[in-house]
Amino acid sequence: MKTRVISIQNPVRQAEEVKEAAAVLRSGRLLGIPTETVYGLGANGLDTAAVRRIFEAKGRPQDNPLILHIPDASWLDRYCRSIPPEAAALAERFWPGPLTMILRRRENVPNAVTCGLDTVGVRCPDHPVTLAIIRASGVPVAAPSGNLSGRPSPTCARHMLEDMDGRIEAIVDGGPCGVGVESTILDLTASVPRLLRPGGLPLESLEAVLGEVAVDRAVTAPLSAGEKPKAPGMKYRHYAPKAPVTVVSGGCLRSARYIRKNLGPQIGVICFDEYRDLFSGCVVRSIGPASDQAEQARRVFDVLRAFDESGVTAIYAQCPSGTGLGLAVANRLKKAAGFQVVELGE
Ligand code: TXA
Ligand code: MG
Repeated sequence: MKTRVISIQNPVRQAEEVKEAAAVLRSGRLLGIPTETVYGLGANGLDTAAVRRIFEAKGRPQDNPLILHIPDASWLDRYCRSIPPEAAALAERFWPGPLTMILRRRENVPNAVTCGLDTVGVRCPDHPVTLAIIRASGVPVAAPSGNLSGRPSPTCARHMLEDMDGRIEAIVDGGPCGVGVESTILDLTASVPRLLRPGGLPLESLEAVLGEVAVDRAVTAPLSAGEKPKAPGMKYRHYAPKAPVTVVSGGCLRSARYIRKNLGPQIGVICFDEYRDLFSGCVVRSIGPASDQAEQARRVFDVLRAFDESGVTAIYAQCPSGTGLGLAVANRLKKAAGFQVVELGE
């Protein structure tokens, strides 16, 4: 199968392209979709056979459930029950946007989507073309990130094609993703809402609406053997380049000095813009200015992906603090490192 690229750069042709993409979904085949966070690997979320194809194409473990993408909050009630008032408040405030809510599911959501759980993750992505495609298809779209399992999530159509060319029917090229890390996942089925994955919507924004939010341990620490995270996907090594990664956390200057001491041939460095010059002679990739967390989020996956062509044998990474979008960026770096972290003070 040759994967077709449906380009939507031309606004005049857009209606036709939306129809073409919706037809792919309705026929039970797989479609790459742009979202504001990362590209997704979409299928008709009510069609068990189509959803199974997602797992095959990605090489995804069978116990890792998928998120349903819907075009607006009025669809929540179709697939979820016992919806708490907080869900409506959050949807009103943050949708379309990078927030996935875990809610009790209705019977019409296939087991293939939820992997047998009695909950389902639902989100409304902030991308006009994808919203139009979902509406035109008339079904919720089940979509994990569009990478092969274990690889960094794709933030542009080219990166998704690197992983999925020949495995899926088509990909909609909607340009680069504006956020760059996946959605924030919030479990609203517990008595206190629980953050399962930090993402494009900062924890502080959720706290401003909800008050207390519990943070799952899997967000910041490795799981002990046999421990089950609430979001099954959090237990897998992820986002990992081929070379082992060590995250160095603490003040920027201290982490930069630490990494400098460990330099050698074929060492890769992920750093903030301001520290680039300290590492001349190495394979250096900057994730953006130390103070610009939005830029760090946009770049982190591309930087991890780029190291695979560079032949480095080990990678050291400076790490943002855990506030704002920094919590999500730090989580992705630590997961890429298999939680191999050197903690330095400020
Ligand atoms: O931004 C995003 O969320 C992207 C775009 C494409 O929307 N999607 C995405 O999907 O990141 P994926 O499959 O790569 O990550 C979904 C995470 C996994 O860790 C999965 O275990 C968790 O969500 N998840 C899905 N359904 C769940 C449920 N019912 N309960 C707990 N965790 C769930
Ligand atoms: Mg993923």
